[in-house]
Amino acid sequence: MHGLLSCPAWARATIQLLAVVGASSACSASLSPPSGTTDTTDAGDPEPVLTDAGWAALQALSPMPLPGAPPDVTNAYADSGAAAAFGQKLFFDPSFSGPLLDADNNGGPGTLGTSGQTGRVACAGCHLPTSGFSDTRSFQMQISLGAGWGRRRAPSLLDVGQAKLVMWDGKHDALYNQPFGPLETVVEMNSSRLFMAEQIYSNSEYRADYEAVFGSIPDLADTTQFPALSATLTGCQPMNPSSPPPTCDGTFHGYPGDGAEYDSMTPENQTAVTRVVVNAGKAIGAFERLLTCGSTPFDAWMHGGAPVSPAAQRGAALFVGAAGCSSCHSGPFMSDQQFHNVGLQPGLVQQNFIDSNDQGGATGIAAAIASPLNSLSAFSDGNDGRLPSAVTPAMNGAFRTPILRCVALRPTFMHTGQFGTLANVVAFFNAGGSMSGYPGTKEIHPLGLSSLDQSDLVAFLQTLTGPGAEPQYLQAP
Ligand code: HEC
Ligand code: HEC
Repeated sequence: MHGLLSCPAWARATIQLLAVVGASSACSASLSPPSGTTDTTDAGDPEPVLTDAGWAALQALSPMPLPGAPPDVTNAYADSGAAAAFGQKLFFDPSFSGPLLDADNNGGPGTLGTSGQTGRVACAGCHLPTSGFSDTRSFQMQISLGAGWGRRRAPSLLDVGQAKLVMWDGKHDALYNQPFGPLETVVEMNSSRLFMAEQIYSNSEYRADYEAVFGSIPDLADTTQFPALSATLTGCQPMNPSSPPPTCDGTFHGYPGDGAEYDSMTPENQTAVTRVVVNAGKAIGAFERLLTCGSTPFDAWMHGGAPVSPAAQRGAALFVGAAGCSSCHSGPFMSDQQFHNVGLQPGLVQQNFIDSNDQGGATGIAAAIASPLNSLSAFSDGNDGRLPSAVTPAMNGAFRTPILRCVALRPTFMHTGQFGTLANVVAFFNAGGSMSGYPGTKEIHPLGLSSLDQSDLVAFLQTLTGPGAEPQYLQAP
């Protein structure tokens, strides 16, 4: 720790004094200063100035080695290789999905098929492995077209294992229960837990994989106990299939409240079906924990490797200094994993949608608290107190601070996907958010940054891109 304190002053000095030749031996390898930074001193590219405190704050964003996903007490299989391998298969498999609906599903690029087709939507359909598990497929790369149009941007899944409450609004409090969201949402996979459980049972490879990890699977072929669902019947039949709303407004089949196949089963069999999909979720969660952004040019600079550009160094100093970014984007993954209201007035996306009055955490956390699948339920293997006990007023209009590692790989930004560039995002923060047009009370204020400061912050954000997930995770195993 004292080494950390003595080196930064020295490092700062070398940034300010040009061409301190041979000085790098004075500092430990992990704290080598950015020697050979630059030889330009004109007004357009001023020398970066890092204070001791700034350097220490940056070091806190870059521990060596980067921590892996913390233990997940909700999932006893979180670190099982066999579970992750099974989860990887499920992640890439579209066969659990029901009918495509929206008329925009015309089979063209950016769609997953033609309206009416079934078995087209996999997790990987919106979380594209080759795009940092973001959705670069959908038109304008803002919101996603599955069976229909969602209203929020698909987050990258790199480093998602660092989060306990997931989704922009914290609607799911564990990776194991998150898949119920896309599976049973009309505009995503438009399917159901009963259908997915039956598909796992009827696929002999999956059944063997499942039983090897989780033990015996119920006899889902016994239709006297488990009504058979087809791919065309599973999920929702909305009032207007060619333009379905995000929440089912018609009849549905295969999940609680259907007044049909699911509800007709005994409570024990309902639980048995739900548990099969919970276990599938634990397998998917084990896979997701393996997805990381990895070590970045920023980390290399922090630990004695090549310095990042002077612009990025100035941006780094601003990020932990005058711009105050690290008050929320803190820790090794640059997220406090808390919910904040940054006062974003939703913009027009996809030429059609404005997601007005999204209350974010206020509705998301309420849904997580009410969920029978949450980390307090019998489906969880443990409880580490991650789920807030109540919704607070500050959660209104608040969204989870995104991880910023690999941020430059994302096609668009914010939960709406309304900003196309990092420069737009920085300008938004510099303005102190929107004047109005969002629920709740915003926490941020105008920053008064110059245009150079703003482009420096962008240059810094661009040094946060690592190699991304290992190649073996980019496709079905
Ligand atoms: C139709 C597109 C689509 C499909 C299919 C889809 N997702 Fe997503 N995913 C999204 C969107 C959009 C969000 C953010 C939604 C929100 O926050 O309300 C999201 C959020 C997530 C998150 C939370 C990430 C975070 O940082 O909070 C995880 C994990 C995730 N998806 C995993 C999956 C898995 C596993 C599947 C398959 C079972 C899947 N997704 C299928 C679009 C999709
Ligand atoms: C008060 C907490 C807070 C502060 C301060 C803050 N952010 Fe954020 N940041 C957030 C939240 C919350 C979001 C997501 C908001 C949304 O989608 O509605 C976000 C989104 C972002 C995004 C978009 C990421 C994505 O995946 O869409 C970037 C980039 C970003 N912030 C960078 C910065 C920079 C640079 C600063 C400093 C100038 C900063 N943030 C200051 C909380 C904060």
